[in-house]
Amino acid sequence: MLRIGDVQLDTNLLLAPVAGHCDLPFRLVARACGGVGIAFTDLLCPHGVLKQNEQTRWLMATNDADRPLGMQLYGQDPELMAEAAKWAVDEGATTLDINMGCPVDKVTKTYAGSMMLCTPDHTVEVAERLVKTVGDRVPVTAKTRLGFYDGELTAPTLVRRLIGVGVQCITIHGRTAAQRFKGSASYDGIRAVVDAVHDAGGGRVPCIGNGDIRTPYDAQRMLDETGCDGVMIARAALGAPWIFRDTHTLLTTGRLDEADQLTLRQRLACVRMHFRLLLECREDRYTMNRLKQKISGYGVHLGPCKPLKRAVAAMTDPRQFDEAVDRFLDESGDAANRVPVTWVTRAEQLADSDRAQQKQTQQSHATVAA
Ligand SMILES: Cc1cc2nc3c(=O)[nH]c(=O)nc-3n(C[C@H](O)[C@H](O)[C@H](O)COP(=O)(O)O)c2cc1C
Repeated sequence: MLRIGDVQLDTNLLLAPVAGHCDLPFRLVARACGGVGIAFTDLLCPHGVLKQNEQTRWLMATNDADRPLGMQLYGQDPELMAEAAKWAVDEGATTLDINMGCPVDKVTKTYAGSMMLCTPDHTVEVAERLVKTVGDRVPVTAKTRLGFYDGELTAPTLVRRLIGVGVQCITIHGRTAAQRFKGSASYDGIRAVVDAVHDAGGGRVPCIGNGDIRTPYDAQRMLDETGCDGVMIARAALGAPWIFRDTHTLLTTGRLDEADQLTLRQRLACVRMHFRLLLECREDRYTMNRLKQKISGYGVHLGPCKPLKRAVAAMTDPRQFDEAVDRFLDESGDAANRVPVTWVTRAEQLADSDRAQQKQTQQSHATVAA
């Protein structure tokens, strides 16, 4: 099974850092569903970590059930990063990750995130400093992209150097920073990085593949086709925190039958748990807003659920959610105990929407050409 430095993980499935989403309540739900080998905090600003402002305290919030936990820092000032890293480890980080992939202007204009791909000497210096500062307590890891500019593949060279200074795991998102989230993740690019990591690390440093895993079958394909040691899932987990559980079933048994998947009632128990935990940590208004934002993402995996969505839209107090779920389950009758949308159905839905999108792109190109 996957090992990062001295940290042995139960599975090779990683819950990604997703700013604004993968907070403590969400991580606990995904862990409770099963299959999560390690989860990550959002990217943390070292200034915020050192000042311990309210927002950063929330982003760093964790507890004993939230293990193993990777805390992710972004920044390019070695001194500041090292101080923040010490703090993160004191607060419970099991691993310390350096963000080298964020393409957002606010981050890249400070020469952090994916801009670190453009300043390899300095990036290696930052990584080395973190390894020297906290490397005897936790493994230092890095998450990056294939390159900065379109079509570029600079990550293999960079990751070799990072491993040279003691970085113990690399996660590679198979896009360049310039692509942001456009196009699709390149398996060829991921494979090139995996090969570089395995070569430079003498087989002891794992490489995690990331990008466009939308179903457990995609995870299986990425592992098979790129040779990566584990996979990290971000967007697909947000409406289906049970994707790790189901992917683990597929990877360990070779199959994922309908009977293995969660029923509507069980899925709604996860959704309830999410908002109950959120309500325990945050004020009512925050929880209510999150519930309204997140219900459609969950809805994709709940089958026909308009009455529930309507009830949430009309809600003024998050405590009304339990009652709305009970009512919806009652009205659902036998369907409450069946799987509302299997992963096979979900894969078909995604293929249909990909085809529709491709057709739309072709049509708009034809219009431009005409
Ligand atoms: C809204 C959003 C926020 C993200 N925040 C972070 C972050 O804080 N740190 C990070 O390394 N990656 C972040 N990512 C990138 C994801 O971790 C992941 O690399 C990317 O979404 C590709 O994986 P996916 O196809 O499974 O979503 C973010 C992505 C999204 C969509």
